[in-house]
Amino acid sequence: MKNIETPELLELIERYDDYFGTPGQIELMSCLKDLQQAYGFVPRISYPLLENHFQTSSKIIVSLIKRLPALLEEGGPHTLLVCSGQRCTDKGSAQFITEIEQLLGCKVGGVSKDGMFELRTQNCLRRCAQGKNLNIDTDPYTEMDIDKLKKVIETMKKG
Ligand code: FES
Repeated sequence: MKNIETPELLELIERYDDYFGTPGQIELMSCLKDLQQAYGFVPRISYPLLENHFQTSSKIIVSLIKRLPALLEEGGPHTLLVCSGQRCTDKGSAQFITEIEQLLGCKVGGVSKDGMFELRTQNCLRRCAQGKNLNIDTDPYTEMDIDKLKKVIETMKKG
C-alpha cells in the first residue's frame, strides 16, 4: 500500500479536470475507483479535495463508497454478515459459515487475511424462504453457497 502524499493524491484527482465543465458523479465514481486502486481504500484525506473538484459533499462520497462494493472506506473492511438462524441452518448455513471462515482465513468476529471483510453472523436476516442468506454491507444476497460467494468476492476485487 502506498503512502498517502497529498501532491500525488491531488494529481490523481486533477486528472478529472480535463472534463468540460464540472465533472459529474460518473467521473467521481471513476476517481474513487482510481483512489481505491492506488491506496487499497479511499483515503479520508481525499474527501476535501474531492468535494472541491467534484462540487460534492463528504456525505455523498461516503454514500458512494458504501454503495459500490469495490470501494473501501479508510479503516473499514466490508461487513460480511451471514445468517445463522434456524431456517438457514436447516439449509446448511453452519457448514457454509465454516467454508466462509476457510475462504477468508478468519473466524466469525474476525477480519479476513486480506483485510477486505469482517465476518459476522446474525440470527435471521428476515428473508428465510430464500436462504442461505448473507449481506455484504447493506447488499442482500440470497440462495447462497460458497461458489456463488467466491464469484461475488472476485467481482468485488475486480472493482
Ligand atoms: S433464518 Fe436465515 S433469514 Fe431467517
